Amino acid sequence: MKLFIDSAEIKEIEEAAATGLIDGVTTNPSLIAKSGRPFAEAIKEICALVDGPVSAEVAATDFDGMVAEGRALGGIAENVTVKLPLTWEGLRACKTLSEDGFLTNVTLCFSATQALMAAKAGATFVSPFIGRHDDVGFEGMQLIRDIKTIYDHYEELETEILVASVRHPLHVRDAAMTGAHVATLPPAIFKALLNHPLTDKGLAAFLADWQKTGQTVPRA
Ligand code: E4P
Repeated sequence: MKLFIDSAEIKEIEEAAATGLIDGVTTNPSLIAKSGRPFAEAIKEICALVDGPVSAEVAATDFDGMVAEGRALGGIAENVTVKLPLTWEGLRACKTLSEDGFLTNVTLCFSATQALMAAKAGATFVSPFIGRHDDVGFEGMQLIRDIKTIYDHYEELETEILVASVRHPLHVRDAAMTGAHVATLPPAIFKALLNHPLTDKGLAAFLADWQKTGQTVPRA
């Protein structure tokens, strides 16, 4: 399963990328606004930090505007993934940009039929928002299971499921259990994937016992 970082903060992305376990980055207009950085400059910098796909979202809502913005964003770096909203215009733009060879990510997916349509539009990724689903009393993970079932039925649907709006490590575990291709995580959730008190306790005990031996482990 691929793990992306959901952030536009260079320091956070650098830190996560240094683990060698990050496969891409997602941004959205809210994250760019929070970073306070000029959009194109931030995307260029992120693309240089990470080898994998870096999602950059269009702001236009009409077909021509989205295609023009998508082409410009896609020109920033080879790994830019043009993020488009799940609207009829967005899907038309997705089809055009995907056919032109750009990576695409259809965002704000809240239903299985929306995901089906995104796949038919040739999206590289579809982003179902599970946390926002949970927030309003629906089970976000059921949406992931439904999309996975649908996509698995039809080999011509090659879109990858990018689980978004992830709020805690259990979302990551459950997404992986469905076989979703990617999850995008806020940096704090990425870090939390490794948290376990028994690991900390066990390591402290091993190190204390090792010190008592007075030995050192040979190094190459
Ligand atoms: C990623 O592509 C999405 O924009 C992001 O995961 C949304 O997360 P949020 O619901 O926490 O804003």
